[in-house]
Amino acid sequence: MNIKKICCIGAGYVGGPTMAVIAQKCPSIQVTVVDLNEARIAAWNDTDLNKLPIYEPGLAEIVGEVRNRNLFFSTEVEKAIEEADMIFISVNTPTKTYGLGKGMAADLKYIELCARTIARVAKTDKIVIEKSTLPVRTAAAIKSILDHTGNGVQFQILSNPEFLAEGTAVKDLLAPDRVLIGGDDSIEGQIAIAELAFIYSNWVPQERILTTNVWSSELSKLTANAFLAQRVSSINAMSELCEKTGADVNEVASAIGMDSRIGHKFLKASVGFGGSCFQKDIMNLVYIAQSYGLQEVADYWEQVIIMNDHQKRRFGRNIVKTLYNTVADKKIAFLGWAFKKDTNDTRESAAIYVAADLLCEQANIAVFDPKVTEMQMKSDLDLVLAGCDETCSRDVSMQEDAYNTCKDAHAIAVLTEWDEFKTYDWQRIYDNMMKPAFIFDGRNVLDRKELETIGFIYKGIGS
Ligand code: UDX
Ligand code: UDX
Repeated sequence: MNIKKICCIGAGYVGGPTMAVIAQKCPSIQVTVVDLNEARIAAWNDTDLNKLPIYEPGLAEIVGEVRNRNLFFSTEVEKAIEEADMIFISVNTPTKTYGLGKGMAADLKYIELCARTIARVAKTDKIVIEKSTLPVRTAAAIKSILDHTGNGVQFQILSNPEFLAEGTAVKDLLAPDRVLIGGDDSIEGQIAIAELAFIYSNWVPQERILTTNVWSSELSKLTANAFLAQRVSSINAMSELCEKTGADVNEVASAIGMDSRIGHKFLKASVGFGGSCFQKDIMNLVYIAQSYGLQEVADYWEQVIIMNDHQKRRFGRNIVKTLYNTVADKKIAFLGWAFKKDTNDTRESAAIYVAADLLCEQANIAVFDPKVTEMQMKSDLDLVLAGCDETCSRDVSMQEDAYNTCKDAHAIAVLTEWDEFKTYDWQRIYDNMMKPAFIFDGRNVLDRKELETIGFIYKGIGS
């Protein structure tokens, strides 16, 4: 096969780890990850591997092994594009905040910008790969831009969605359930698919490399995320019913999960799903369905988001109600700010929305998260509090340690399922809290019996 140089545009949560693994598994290929963000590239190049811009278990070790061997991080976007045989587009595709489709459709301006840069710079034939999650038929737009450059360069466009989950990115990349490659039916399209499949075959068994047409591949990614999010909203809907009926959602999840047709994964009731993908991708799906006039399909999927918003809101309301209908001037300790454990990513984390609701009830909030910085936490909140008036409290701080965070608090809210929370000296935490001391376990991760024996009033989700 012919691929000697790969370029990836976008050094984010997807581009960084994915290219690190490709570089590790394909030592003869030179992989260059480029990004417009200079600070981010500098962090990827930092000699201190603890300062990489992304925290993922196992990632620093791989970057340490292959960086400057055959993995490079650079801001020289055009040079890397020009030299590459294969270009991955891995830039972000946020929800549109303006114009038609505002709040729902994916904003494709960065994708288009990449396509135009490639079109302008390329002097040799290239395989261009959509790695970002995109609305179905985006490849047609990319192709149209690339094919009208007039400089005789041939482009093949493939869709190769990434299914890694944050916190387990390296594990997911090294042993994926499947690698999906969508391409054109033509001979050139099939050759491009084979080139990419060959790269993955360095470590992924052949039977796990699935090839489809481009549109199926694009739509499969949106569908996979919609199905996963739907499972979380489904169990969360049941959690509310459990709370009313005396059933226990953990027991219900175990019981239904033993049905092999249902399976036990993604059945953990929670304060609500977060992350950069689920909400955005479902909105996208809803928008696409609407744009084809499929209102029932759109409404069906939108309900997954409505349920998730409800779950976040009712968690905050439950705290206020339980604390005698007022949290004004009371300290509430947040354990966890990231949208799930083992990541420093806070995008769409439930913690942000629960905090905003409690601040509007004039609570004071102290936060501890093992990987999130105060600056990140505050910038997350600034965005959601922007529309609130001055009656909302802004009294929120990040602490270095969980014990100080919980000191003198009226209640603890667990927002992320970090493993270390289970190992704390809960008696010590209890002794230093206001009484009665409440725990609202938004992840059902703590030991209820142990905490109740100490004296805590424990409220899990769905029990
Ligand atoms: C992912 C996926 O690629 C996308 O499919 C998914 O839907 C959302 O997020 P992710 O890696 O998590 O992207 O995004 P992010 O961490 O924001 O990284 C994107 C990077 O692209 C940023 O570092 C940004 O600076 C860079 N970028 C963006 C460019 O280099 N050029 C651009 O024109 C736009
Ligand atoms: C997701 C998809 O899993 C991945 O395949 C895709 O490439 C990107 O989007 P990610 O968002 O990183 O990955 O994490 P995921 O593990 O899917 O969790 C998403 C959210 O759902 C988290 O907030 C998580 O806490 C929540 N969740 C997950 C639950 O509340 N309950 C569950 O049972 C599972």
